[in-house]
Amino acid sequence: MKGRSALVTGASRGLGRAIAVELASQGAFVFINYRKRGEEAKETLRLVRETGGDGVIIRADVSDPSQVDEMFDTIRRHTGGVDILVNNAGWGMISPLDSMEDRLWERHIAVNLNSVFYCTRRAVPYMIEKGWGRIVNVTSIAGLKGVKWLSAYSAAKAGVIGFTRAAAQDLAHTGVTVNAVAAGFARTDMGLSFFKATGIPLEEFARRFTLTGSILEPIEVARLVAFLASDEASNITGQVYVIDSGMSLATDYTSLIEG
Ligand SMILES: NC(=O)c1ccc[n+]([C@@H]2O[C@H](COP(=O)([O-])OP(=O)(O)OC[C@H]3O[C@@H](n4cnc5c(N)ncnc54)[C@H](OP(=O)(O)O)[C@@H]3O)[C@@H](O)[C@H]2O)c1
Repeated sequence: MKGRSALVTGASRGLGRAIAVELASQGAFVFINYRKRGEEAKETLRLVRETGGDGVIIRADVSDPSQVDEMFDTIRRHTGGVDILVNNAGWGMISPLDSMEDRLWERHIAVNLNSVFYCTRRAVPYMIEKGWGRIVNVTSIAGLKGVKWLSAYSAAKAGVIGFTRAAAQDLAHTGVTVNAVAAGFARTDMGLSFFKATGIPLEEFARRFTLTGSILEPIEVARLVAFLASDEASNITGQVYVIDSGMSLATDYTSLIEG
């Protein structure tokens, strides 16, 4: 990955941080995007530098197209563009359908789905010009089946899967691939908050509802993303890779959240 540049959205914490650090450890220069938590983004940059790599922090709300445009203007000044785009930023809140307000629905779609379109649209011209590019969208197993009380989140994540498959076709024969990683429960702020809502102790949950007996660690997702972003993955496009400790086979995860 030496000489490549990568943008990871939502890289101040959780999966995004692990992905940024992993890409940097493999030689990429990383743009670390975040929305609110600047101190945490600085910690990601510190970890990136610890690997011997380097990067730049860019604050932008990726659900806002004008902020995405400003972010890409900044990127253009640094490296001209990005070779690798990881659309990772995401957000979810448990909300039963009959009491969900328009704003909550719209926020889910904006943060989890619109952002993927805004960033991809800005990233691809540079990739097409270079004849090489990798786009990896972080989605969820909630987008495969739909999870009770997460209808907005599930719809947005399903949208990311549809977008991935369509964008791969738009970008056929350009050297740019588009894939998605559908994660199950991972040990991050978001994962643990969804997990808490199941009301089941973590160890018991892992034993009863996964095939592997353990909850995903962010680094495991990061390694899969890094593979899809590598030269080795040049013939993989339009695909959705599930990484979920076998949860989607082991259980009906669609109704585990009890509020
Ligand atoms: N953890 C899981 O169990 C799990 C499972 C399946 C899928 N996923 C998906 O994996 C991705 C990462 O999740 P995570 O668990 O790492 O979440 P997390 O720990 O809550 O971190 C979310 C990250 O996204 C950033 N972010 C949120 N809204 C943003 C916005 N509008 N613009 C820019 N950045 C924004 C946050 O920035 P700030 O720190 O500045 O707020 C933070 O860096 C998400 O797409 C999530 O849906 C997670």
